Order: sequence, then C-alpha cells, then structure tokens
Amino acid sequence: MGISIKSDADIAVMRQAGRVVATVLDMLKLQVKPGMKTKELDSIAAKEVVRLGATPSFKGYRGYPANICASVNDEIVHGIPGDRVLKEGDIISLDFGAIFDGFQGDAAITVGVGKITPEARKLIETTDGALRAGIAAVRHGVRLGDIASAIQEYAESRGYSVVREYTGHGIGREMHEEPLVPNFGEPGRGPILQKGMTIAIEPMVNVGDWRTKVGANRWTVSTIDGSLSAHFEHTIAVTNGAAEVLTAL
Ligand code: MF3
Ligand code: CO
Repeated sequence: MGISIKSDADIAVMRQAGRVVATVLDMLKLQVKPGMKTKELDSIAAKEVVRLGATPSFKGYRGYPANICASVNDEIVHGIPGDRVLKEGDIISLDFGAIFDGFQGDAAITVGVGKITPEARKLIETTDGALRAGIAAVRHGVRLGDIASAIQEYAESRGYSVVREYTGHGIGREMHEEPLVPNFGEPGRGPILQKGMTIAIEPMVNVGDWRTKVGANRWTVSTIDGSLSAHFEHTIAVTNGAAEVLTAL
C-alpha cells in the first residue's frame, strides 16, 4: 500500500470533511457544562454531523459503539460516552471524525468543565501547544521524526510526558492510513513528508507517567498512575509551504 498522495481535488474534499469535524467540535465545546452526561454530547454530535451532510466515522469502527470519544480526567483517549455526569473541575477530551464525499476528517480538543485548576489549565495549554509545535514543523521534505521530536520536546521541556502507545496516523479515504505518526522520536528519522500527504497529528500528554492501561470496556485508555491527561488532534495536509490545517474553522 504505502503512503497515499492526495491530489488537489482530493484535498479540496478533505477540507470540507475537516470543516464538518471542526464545526461539530466547536458546537460540543460550547455545550460542555457541569451536570451533563457525556452521552448528551454524543447525541449532539450525531445530530449535527447529519445536518452538515456528513457521516460519523467512529460508530461501528472495529465495533466502537458511539459517535464521539469523550475521555475525562485520567482517561487519555477512547472514552465511551455514557451516563457519566460531568462535574465542575473535570477536563474532557472530545474526539470526533466524519466522512464527507468519501474522505475523512478527524480532530480532538480538550476543554474544562466549568472552573478548572491552574494545573489542569496548564496541561491543556501545553498539549495544544505541543500540537501546534508539531504542525509548525511540517514541511515538504522533513521527516516524521522531526515532527515527533518537536512534539515530545515541547511537552517534556515543560515537565509533562507524552503517550507512546498510541499515535497519530495518515488519513484520507480511510480514517487510519499509513504512516503512523508518533508523538515521540528522533529528528532525521522516519518517512519523508511530501506535498499531498494528509496526516492526523494527535499528541496525548500526561501530568505523570506516559504509560497507559485499557479499561474493562476494552476501549477506554487511561494513565497508569491516575494522573490527568489531555489530547488535541488536527487533520493536516502537507504543502510546499506551511501545513494546511483541514480541521479548523
Ligand atoms: N480519533 C481517533 C483516532 O485517531 C479515534 C478513533 S477510535 C474509534 O484513532 F474507535 F473511536 F473510532
Ligand atoms: Co486520529
């Protein structure tokens, strides 16, 4: 198979898919409040994505039972929305993917529920910063290790750890395409990025240990030590200049 290179026409469609994902996440972010159940966020996403003319991509993927992933506090990724009630001070990662005209968009944000601690705020800002540092390193001709190390350096130099057991990924007609896009690594290593590649970069950053565990539902990934974790993701296109973020409004 190898890494697929998208035409300008493909990327134009991916821009539309990305816009749907960004619109849904923006709406979810405004709805997050103490006292609500995470499954209410799932319903909002399910309704909104259809209204925007797209199809949710997570539901049914390897048997995943919901439209979004909602990962709270020490949950890193793949939290299944349900009856859990959000409370003031929680942080929640909202991950959403959609298919528009045959192409995928995938993105995630982490937001606070009501007033959160300065520690939680700093974790969220650092993880967002790590994603931005990764995106800023994307250029035609650089290697994936250059992106990975930029993300790792950004987070670790601020005292955090980056999750190693889950990675970003190529994306296109499939949600997960080659290559894997790790959040740790060495500059100068790995595949060379070329114009027309589309990848999802998604740092997962922990306050404590980088190691993870999977919950009894076989999906939800949490920090091994119970420390807080945050997650941000964008789908981007490699161009001759700066990366184009496809999942931005
Ligand atoms: N955005 C995630 C990823 O990049 C979530 C997909 S897992 C699913 O892999 F099962 F929920 F679809
Ligand atoms: Co992803």
